[in-house]
Amino acid sequence: MQVLTPSTSVPIDLGDRSYNILIAPALLGDPATLAGLPSSGAAMIVTNVTVAPLYLQKLRAALADRFKTIHTVTLPDGEEYKNWQTLNLIFDALLVNECDRKTVLFALGGGVVGDMTGFAAASYMRGVPFVQVPTTLLSQVDSSVGGKTGINHPLGKNMIGAFYQPLRVVCDLDTLMTLPARELSAGLAEVIKYGPIADLEFLGWIEVNMDRLLACEVDALAYAVKRSCEIKAWVVAQDERESGLRAILNFGHTFGHAIESGMGYGVWLHGEAVGCGMVMAAQLSCELGLVDASFVRRMRTLIQRAGLPVIGPRLNPEDNAGRYLELMRVDKKAEAGEIRFVLIDGPSRACMRGAPDGLVRSVIDACCA
Ligand code: NAD
Ligand code: GLY
Repeated sequence: MQVLTPSTSVPIDLGDRSYNILIAPALLGDPATLAGLPSSGAAMIVTNVTVAPLYLQKLRAALADRFKTIHTVTLPDGEEYKNWQTLNLIFDALLVNECDRKTVLFALGGGVVGDMTGFAAASYMRGVPFVQVPTTLLSQVDSSVGGKTGINHPLGKNMIGAFYQPLRVVCDLDTLMTLPARELSAGLAEVIKYGPIADLEFLGWIEVNMDRLLACEVDALAYAVKRSCEIKAWVVAQDERESGLRAILNFGHTFGHAIESGMGYGVWLHGEAVGCGMVMAAQLSCELGLVDASFVRRMRTLIQRAGLPVIGPRLNPEDNAGRYLELMRVDKKAEAGEIRFVLIDGPSRACMRGAPDGLVRSVIDACCA
């Protein structure tokens, strides 16, 4: 296995918007973590009620040498709060504290805090700098990287937002040690995703190391975060605004987003919905003749081992498949009402295509409770 150096840095190459993803234990307390970032004026840490008692003081202490003033806004916790009302709490805090356009926002938390802070940074005074400090596995391997920011709408997941890159991503692996087991599993869904879409060798590594990942062994987590970030950086550098290739990062997400919004935000975790959605997308790939049944079995087994659900929930007692189809039409990848799925069509290879409603219905019927 690859050995992690004390401070691994994965570059993300986006011209004048390039930045580094730092991955190591103990980054929050290390002054070198912040080297090169703006150092005067004000900072605002955006966090939530769960993460603040764990890591806020540590980040405040690290920022104290660089910023004259450090403001904090502590949001309610949960996917159901990823909305306009909560976003507005960030704007309220920025305005009440008379923050100017040099204020640096720090997103301290999981993907919900990161997505909302990034969107606030993109839009406050038409753009202020921000730094991602992701504290969940899911946010370290995916949501903090690549500049997708935004909020949910009652009618569709992540439907309102902006592409806006951070100045830096700080993945302190120590923060993963306080993560509840269910959240660790949710993060593993996004780790697993990178295998079938880009790196079958990595998929094999995850299979071999799943027990070590579930036991929170730091070198296993370090490699999983690093390899995931490398793959994501490679994709985003080629297609920052998702005009094509970047869509492969949404493997499992079309079914997954339908589960999340259909169940009500927060009932299934994002990673749980994506895990189950990957089983459904693998099954659809198989029904279309793109992969064989052994691939579907392989994905189902691994996702189950990660502690994730592999049977979809019923979203409607009368016409379950119809409800999935209705929800999946509200998806950023849909074109002229046609649902477009990310499917696997070869080793480490994903494609995007539509599928006949009848076939999608049969996959949903086969994959749901
Ligand atoms: P989350 O932000 O809700 O965090 C999960 C839970 O863990 C929360 O209760 C949080 O308070 C808690 N928590 C965070 N860090 C902790 C720690 N170190 N110890 C203990 N508890 C901790 O969920 P998430 O899984 O991090 O992110 C999911 C969100 O990310 C979704 O909204 C999803 O749409 C979004 N997402 C965005 C992108 C993107 O590219 N922007 C990619 C994937 C997912
Ligand atoms: N999580 C999908 C993306 O960043 O494009």
